[in-house]
Amino acid sequence: MSGELAIDVKGMTKQFDGVIAVNAIDLQLRRGEICGFLGPNGSGKTTFIRMLCGLLRPDGGSGSCLGFDVIRESEAIRKEVGYMTQRFSFYEDLTIAENLDFVARMFSLPGRKAAVAESLEQLGLAGRRNQLAGELSGGWKQRLALAACMLHRPQLLLLDEPTAGVDPKARRDFWDRIHELAGAGITVLVSTHYMDEARRCHNLAYLSYGNLLVHGTPDEIAGDATLEEVFIRLTEASTDNYQP
Ligand SMILES: Nc1ncnc2c1ncn2[C@@H]1O[C@H](COP(=O)(O)OP(=O)(O)OP(=O)(O)O)[C@@H](O)[C@H]1O
Ligand SMILES: [Mg+2]
Repeated sequence: MSGELAIDVKGMTKQFDGVIAVNAIDLQLRRGEICGFLGPNGSGKTTFIRMLCGLLRPDGGSGSCLGFDVIRESEAIRKEVGYMTQRFSFYEDLTIAENLDFVARMFSLPGRKAAVAESLEQLGLAGRRNQLAGELSGGWKQRLALAACMLHRPQLLLLDEPTAGVDPKARRDFWDRIHELAGAGITVLVSTHYMDEARRCHNLAYLSYGNLLVHGTPDEIAGDATLEEVFIRLTEASTDNYQP
C-alpha cells in the first residue's frame, strides 16, 4: 500500500446527463481512519463512494484505493472493499444465516461455513440465525448488513448511511463496532446525516453540489460553533453561489 494511505485520489469527477454530481474531489484517508462523509441530499456522497469501489466509472480523476489504481484495477479493489449500500438489500424470505451463506457463495469464500459461523458470533447474531431477514428490526437488519459486508475480511469499509432509521442504542452499538474495526486497521468511509455520528469520526468531509467544501477533524471544522451550525452556513453559502 502506498505509505499508510488507504485512499489517495485526485480530481474525481462524475456527470450525469451533463450535470455534475461529483466535481473534482481530492481525498486522502489514512489506514485505520474513520472519515465521515456529510452533505445535503444529492450532494454526491453515494456517487463518490460508488466510484471508489469501481461500481461507477469516473469521468475524470486518478489515484489509488488500497494501493490499486482506482480506474484500472477496480476489480482488485472490489475484492478488498466492504460496501454497505444505502438501502437494506437482502432476501427477506431467507434467514440471517442463509443470507450470509448466500453472500459467502457470491464471493466464493474459502471455508464458507466457518466464516459464516464466525461472523454470526462476532456480531451477536448467532441466537437469531434462523430468523427471517424480513422480520428483523432496523438495528438488527443493519447488523446483518455489516456482517455481510465484512464476511470476506475487507481492508476498507464504505458505509452509505448505515444507520438511517435505526434507534439510538443500536446506532451507538454500531459505532462502537466501527471503532473496534478501525482500531484493527480497517479504514472506514461512512456517510451520515447524524451530527452525533459525525462527532465520532476522526475526520469529516463535507460536500455540497458535488464540491468538497471542507475536510478536517470535527473540532477543526466546528471551532466555537456546533458542527450543525457550520454545515448549515456552508450549505447556504454554496446554494447562493450555485449556478446550474
Ligand atoms: N444513476 C444516476 N443517474 C442520473 N443522476 C444520478 C444518478 N445517481 C445520482 N444522480 C444524481 O447525482 C447527484 C448526486 O447524487 P448522490 O446520490 O450521489 O447524492 P447523495 O449525497 O448520496 O444524496 P443522499 O444524501 O440523498 O443519499 C444527484 O443530483 C442525483 O440526482
Ligand atoms: Mg446517498
